[in-house]
Amino acid sequence: MLIFNRQEDLKKHLMSVTKENTTIGFVPTMGALHQGHLSLIEKSLTENQVTVVSIFVNPTQFNNPEDLEKYPRTLEKDTQKIGTVNKDVLIFAPSVDDIYEGKTIAKAFDFDGLENQMEGKHRPGHFDGVGTIVKRLFEIVTPTNAYFGEKDFQQLQIVKKMVEKHQMAVNVIGCPIYREANGLAMSSRNERLTPQQKEDSSLIYKTLKTAKEKFGTESAKDITDWVESVFEKNPEFKLEYFQIADEAQLLPIDKKDTAKKYRAFIAVFINSIRLIDNISLN
Ligand code: PAJ
Repeated sequence: MLIFNRQEDLKKHLMSVTKENTTIGFVPTMGALHQGHLSLIEKSLTENQVTVVSIFVNPTQFNNPEDLEKYPRTLEKDTQKIGTVNKDVLIFAPSVDDIYEGKTIAKAFDFDGLENQMEGKHRPGHFDGVGTIVKRLFEIVTPTNAYFGEKDFQQLQIVKKMVEKHQMAVNVIGCPIYREANGLAMSSRNERLTPQQKEDSSLIYKTLKTAKEKFGTESAKDITDWVESVFEKNPEFKLEYFQIADEAQLLPIDKKDTAKKYRAFIAVFINSIRLIDNISLN
């Protein structure tokens, strides 16, 4: 397995192994890899001649210092997991200095308002950090195709918007959410849950599925009230938000428009661990 810690080394290697028509698939991650990440890598491998996976815990996208500090860092295990899928994957695991060159700050982005909803509201500056790192990584890796999970649906839409606004030559491909057997969306943060908490957290997806059933006949307000009541009855959880929004603009639903696609989005704390999930409604 080839692991690059410096952008210059990765760039040189890519120059040497690619020709004009070589397709490069790219899967950006923050490590602590699970099957959800691996499903993105597998898709990239089937669609590209070269696949690059970045593993970089990006400090500028963490609005909560404790979350950054506690974020699992498991490079050796991650490398092994990628190796079980395919040994030709190129791993890019740079240091903060190599990426930020002494200025660990995010640039300000305008994503036409996508950044002001949900995660953006509750995690100030988060999407500036995401925009900064993804743009930087795209410039280094120069991918043909880049793979992002629908688990972070708002991030997926924001990256698509960034590519469009900056006219970057990369196809951004959304991939389905990979779940535990009990329905809990896989996440690196799940490693911080006790087995009991993991089991209890199946409530999140269960609630989303019922919200989807209700969407056919009930108003968004009634569904939201019902979701709030579910989590009030389960004090182990603290619901941060539940929102039904259209997929394109991520604005809270007003009147149902049959031409639009809608999703329900949720963020929940269990202890200090923050979990997010979403479900397509129509
Ligand atoms: P990270 O949380 O490591 O996720 C990396 C990619 O894996 C993202 O595109 C995410 O949506 C996807 N992913 C995570 N869990 C998934 C699941 N259960 N099923 C399918 N895909 C899943 O997202 C980030 O890192 C960072 O913000 C990053 C884009 C790397 C920028 O720092």
